[in-house]
Amino acid sequence: MSGPNGSNDKGKRLRSQEWFDNPDDPGMTALYLERYLNFGLTREELQSGKPIIGIAQTGSDLSPCNRHHVELAKRVRAGIEAAGGIPMEFPVHPIQETGKRPTASLDRNLAYLSLVEVLYGYPLDGVVLTIGCDKTTPALLMAAATVNIPAIALSVGPMLNGWYRGERTGSGTVVWKSRELLAEGKIDYDQFMDRVASSAPSVGYCNTMGTATTMNSLAEALGMQLPGSAAIPAPYRERGQMAWHTGKRIVDMVHEDLKPSDIMTREAFENAIVVNSAIGGSSNAPIHLNAIARHLGVPLDNDDWQSVGHHVPLLVNLQPAGEFLGEDYHHAGGVPAVVAELMKAGLLPHPDALTANGRTIGDNCRDAENLDTAVIFSVDAPMKQQAGFINLKGNLFDSAIMKTSVISPEFRKRYLSDPADPEAFEGKAMVFEGPEDYHARIEDPSLGIDENTILFMRGTGPIGYPGAAEVVNMQPPAALLKRGVHSLPCIGDGRQSGTSGSPSILNASPEAAAGGGLALLRDGDRVRIDLKKGRADILIDDDELARRRADLATKGGYRYPGHQTPWQEIQRGIVDQLSGGMVLKPAVNY
Ligand code: FES
Ligand code: MG
Repeated sequence: MSGPNGSNDKGKRLRSQEWFDNPDDPGMTALYLERYLNFGLTREELQSGKPIIGIAQTGSDLSPCNRHHVELAKRVRAGIEAAGGIPMEFPVHPIQETGKRPTASLDRNLAYLSLVEVLYGYPLDGVVLTIGCDKTTPALLMAAATVNIPAIALSVGPMLNGWYRGERTGSGTVVWKSRELLAEGKIDYDQFMDRVASSAPSVGYCNTMGTATTMNSLAEALGMQLPGSAAIPAPYRERGQMAWHTGKRIVDMVHEDLKPSDIMTREAFENAIVVNSAIGGSSNAPIHLNAIARHLGVPLDNDDWQSVGHHVPLLVNLQPAGEFLGEDYHHAGGVPAVVAELMKAGLLPHPDALTANGRTIGDNCRDAENLDTAVIFSVDAPMKQQAGFINLKGNLFDSAIMKTSVISPEFRKRYLSDPADPEAFEGKAMVFEGPEDYHARIEDPSLGIDENTILFMRGTGPIGYPGAAEVVNMQPPAALLKRGVHSLPCIGDGRQSGTSGSPSILNASPEAAAGGGLALLRDGDRVRIDLKKGRADILIDDDELARRRADLATKGGYRYPGHQTPWQEIQRGIVDQLSGGMVLKPAVNY
């Protein structure tokens, strides 16, 4: 029961007591209290000084990736109660990567905003963030960053491995491969559907190293999950057990007043960037981590991704970069085993960063065993060197990221502009105004797309295609596929699915719709990419660029489709570019 002056039995007044046990205002206390009694809670519970713990529930029938959280929440509740807390579960705006049109990323900031209001406006002392599907992880961490009450994340876990005729089939990755087979006439429509569906054999999120596994791993690397939580497959018993431990731990975090700003420091973000390179993380990670950092006031940009992460090797052999899937990652030891390998080589920059269990990441992971060296490689003999991103700049954009480790030798030969400089490439531009334009025209032979073409996708940034579409990786026309050309370089102001392994230049900022240089590009322009100098440029002189810019201005600027919903219009008016995390600009002031 409450102690003197309404303090709880740990001697500290809780935030929720302002609602339920405020001796200065019995009138409001009664008003706040009575309605929460109406489903069976007692005054004894609500006025006992027990921490009230929110469970931010992202699972629902509309969100199959996270749906298993509806079950896991029962174990979270049991953990909260075992530690002397009171659970209060509430829904988060659904974000289903594969179900939401025009794109799930439109809703990351909407879910963020609504969760901020819930965490701020209701009697919660701490919160369990139920993360999983791509955008749910950043949306929830961003909100926890803004409100800064004690918070801990719980992954729903990946699906079991997919199998088709004795081969692993991975989420998303199987789609890219099967589309090629369909385009080449090697499989029919039914076989195509069967192959793709085989990759989703159970509850859970994408079993590849796509954006979901990436962001869940990084939530652990940031210190916001208990060690080992990210990789446990959704249906495994350990997942339910982890849910219980997570519920138990958040109650103690409230008593310790351990807040997101204590855990997600600049050092923690640097650790996460290094882990992202080692796991072969998604190109969506810089967008989301930059956004979380901005909501904490921690400086972080794409130059940091290059300087902190580019030199780090790829250790994790998961599709799309490798061969294995989520269950294998877990059996090999998951994030702690990856961190331990990095630590052995002195590559984890800040082993002393604090994590949600109250210990440092170094203490959590130092002795973690790598249980399958076919899945998690060592730094001495990695899968690839320099697996992080570089941050390209030039007259096309101020910032765009690229994973140089996925550039194939064949590609290097086709686009090499000068044998004396093996890091500089040239090609001729073919420009598409969004995915609909691409699908309508890509097979048109009169476009003259060949092995020296660079495909451009514009109008697909946060403003142009509200929320920024995952469409930059474009399949070459069927005629080229049949000749054995399986990829062309792609550059765009949109994003790329984390399950695609294409060598693309992504997230170009500013986008065409925000006045970026991509808007000035025309079909047939020569484009030069110089990896050593970190530049990407249209090879036309400044006068011609100025003429094109003036010409575009007289036409009213770069045109993009109108708003379909009120939120699209609201977000377009206040959203930042992908390099800045695509945050709502007014929201970073809180
Ligand atoms: Fe939800 Fe991949 S689509 S995790
Ligand atoms: Mg995605």
